[in-house]
This record gives sequence, structure tokens and C-alpha cells, in this order.
Amino acid sequence: MKTFISSLLIFILIISIGCTDKPKTKISEDIKKGLRKDAKEFMESLKTILVKEMQTNGVVAAVSVCSDTAQVLTNNYGVKKGIYIKRVSFKNRNENDAPNKIEAEALKTFEELKRKGELKETTEYFTTIEEDGITSVIYLKPILVQAPCLSCHGSLDQIGLEVKDVIRKKYRNDKATGYQLDDLRGAVSIQKTL
Ligand code: HEC
Repeated sequence: MKTFISSLLIFILIISIGCTDKPKTKISEDIKKGLRKDAKEFMESLKTILVKEMQTNGVVAAVSVCSDTAQVLTNNYGVKKGIYIKRVSFKNRNENDAPNKIEAEALKTFEELKRKGELKETTEYFTTIEEDGITSVIYLKPILVQAPCLSCHGSLDQIGLEVKDVIRKKYRNDKATGYQLDDLRGAVSIQKTL
């Protein structure tokens, strides 16, 4: 009887572990490579357009180009590549760029690595989610502050008066200033159905 009960307990234990520990969907190397490429291209296109506009028409003109282009690029990439792509940050300028729960988790991981001096060129975050029976992969890649960014995200004395004015008018609740070179600005976030 004793052995029967202990076998039964072991059986129940195995079943319950089996149920709670549902295997995570594996993300193939091809998918990973694709997402890395998409994030890189997206950030490079944005930066190219931004720097070009700053050089030809100045920082003030670039403010609106940057915001419109960011949203347009986000949409275009989505439609063209069947992915959902955006930029997220805790200290956001546009409230639409506030992170959701998973993005916040990734950003916190990046922040922690940054604090420890362990954030690398290759740092990234992958996970999968299931919504209504559809599995998606979520990918985040850190965005660091580079020199051209400071004209619009630097300390308040680094941002020109006119630029400050345009930004203040457009973004009532701007949190995206006070950054220094190499600070963690946020992340590119991509969601793609598997
Ligand atoms: C000409 C001004 C300007 C420059 C230069 C600039 N940005 Fe921005 N940035 C903005 C504006 C405006 C927004 C809000 C965009 C929107 O409304 O979608 C923004 C938004 C962002 C966001 C999205 C999160 C948020 O705060 O809403 C990130 C990330 C970002 N910028 C990073 C950078 C980086 C990195 C650089 C340098 C390579 C840079 N920016 C240079 C004006 C600028």
C-alpha cells in the first residue's frame, strides 16, 4: 500500500511538473538573425535621415522630421516586413514610446548591465509570448546615446533655445533630456509572429 501511495505521489508530481513547466517555443537562429538585421536597418535609416536633415536644414527642422519619420518608418517596416517595430524608453519624449510589461523587463535588464559596465555591442533580449493561440517572438536591442543625439536629448544647456521651444510645444510631457554620451537611451522593440 505504501509503495502504491508513493508511486501515486510521484506520478502526480511528474504530471504537475509537466503541466506547469510548459516548454518555451524555441527561436531559430534564422529568426534571430532576421530580427537583428531588421533592428539594425531600422536604427540606421533613422539616424541617416536625422543627421542629413540636421546638416542641411538645422536641428530645429530635424525635430519634426525625426518625430514624423520615426512614426512613418515604424509603420512602413511593419507593413513591409510583417513585424511590429518601435522604440521604447522609460524616459520617453513621445508617450507612445513607453514600454509595456515585457519591454520594461528587458529595459531593466539592460539598465542593470549598463550599471555594472557589462552592456556590450551584442547585448539583446529575446522572448516568446502566446496571445489567442498565436506565438510571437519579441526582440529588444539597446539604443545608446551618440554625439548627434545630444542636440535634442542632452542637458538643457546643450539644447538650443529654439529647439527646446519646438520640443516643448510638441511634447508637453517630455522626459527625454539630460542624457550624456553613451547613456542607455532606450531600445528598439520588435514583435514578429512565428
Ligand atoms: C533633431 C532632434 C533630435 C535628435 C538629434 C535626436 N532625436 Fe531622438 N527624438 C526626437 C524627437 C522629436 C522624438 C520623439 C519622436 C516621436 O514623436 O516619435 C525622439 C524620440 C527618440 C526615441 C524614442 C523614445 C522617446 O523618447 O520617445 C529614441 C530611442 C531616440 N529619440 C533616440 C535618439 C538617438 C539615439 C539619437 C541620436 C542618434 C536621437 N534620438 C537624436 C528628437 C531628436
